[in-house]
Amino acid sequence: MRVVLAYSGGLDTSAILALLREQGHEVITVTVSVGQEEELKGVEEKAYKLGAAKHYTIDATREFAEEYIARAIKANALYEGKYPLGTALARPLIAAKVAEVAKREGADAVAHGCTAKGNDQVRFDTVLRYYLGDEVEILAPVRQLRLTREEAAKILARHGIDVGVHKKYSIDENLWTRSIEGDVLDDPLAEPPEDAFAWTVAPEKAPDEPLYLEVGFENGVPVSVNGERMDLVKLVSLLNRLVGAHGYGRIDHIENRVVGLKSREVYEAPAALALIEAHRDLEKMVYTPRELRFKNMVDEMWTDLVYQGLWVEPLRVALEKAIDWLNQWVTGVVKLKVYKGSLRVVGRWSSNSSYSRSLIDYNEGWYPSDEEARGFITIWSMHSLAAAKARGLRG
Ligand code: ARG
Repeated sequence: MRVVLAYSGGLDTSAILALLREQGHEVITVTVSVGQEEELKGVEEKAYKLGAAKHYTIDATREFAEEYIARAIKANALYEGKYPLGTALARPLIAAKVAEVAKREGADAVAHGCTAKGNDQVRFDTVLRYYLGDEVEILAPVRQLRLTREEAAKILARHGIDVGVHKKYSIDENLWTRSIEGDVLDDPLAEPPEDAFAWTVAPEKAPDEPLYLEVGFENGVPVSVNGERMDLVKLVSLLNRLVGAHGYGRIDHIENRVVGLKSREVYEAPAALALIEAHRDLEKMVYTPRELRFKNMVDEMWTDLVYQGLWVEPLRVALEKAIDWLNQWVTGVVKLKVYKGSLRVVGRWSSNSSYSRSLIDYNEGWYPSDEEARGFITIWSMHSLAAAKARGLRG
């Protein structure tokens, strides 16, 4: 068979490549870059060393930022209030690129390295099915063979490659988030050791001086830092570096997976957390209270769909219509203060805001008369007072 393999160069996908070759298949490897820092040249070399017939390196970082990260920011996407969806967001894009190659190469099957216990298999399989239908087979050897990391390492050793089980953690990294799993992190009571982190310094070791940042937004998307305009790829990498250096961006999360399990997840996402915090604040400057409450519901639905592997669900597109519509006024500036692992919004401005200093001032400007205020309160509380009285509610 001609198999197109989603290849990261890591332990699992390298073992799969070796296995598929041992089974006599022709394997074409595809590595999709979504802003992870690893050396792509080395990944290609390893693919050929393990017997790939052909290798594709596809740089999708810009597309990831503009079509995926931008939407996540507009939707304030934090799964269960905490996880900025890095891995979940990148999977549908990677799957789409792999499907594209599978079509071009006339593949009989596509393969990926997901286990049966994770969300990623749901995300990959669903998007691959969407693009490839039932004609092309989906192979998931880790899931099928219950391949452990030790077994994977053994397979590779047969081919003279040491990918190293010595790497303690299972790490998935892209421009938006670094996801860290496994080893001691599986004990939800144990504090994540310092060696789990790579993008953030320990807050205790962060500089004594706070960092101030001014992030400019246009239509809900960040476009500048401290007045300097830049594209989203540059802006996110810059904030990851600046904010991470002040110890902000670590996440310790008990997460409900799609596949019925609770897991303890550790993430680093300095830029994602900073940008969502800033964006949410700016939305509050702009939206009516009703819009804000509606937006919270829509955001949560969007985030759940993406986390749960349903990128292809038509409702996602419908939700985005509402999200984009409301974001068209989210333009302005947010001031952030980052200090030893904490981040606060300390100022914001938008020309589309209905905030009025003279209206809110207690001492001057508009002031409702006593009669207006009483009338409002009487009618406002009528339902509640009448119902409470009818039921004899106390306390
Ligand atoms: N729990 C996260 C998610 O489902 C992160 C998964 C990380 N994947 C990995 N291969 N380490 O999106």
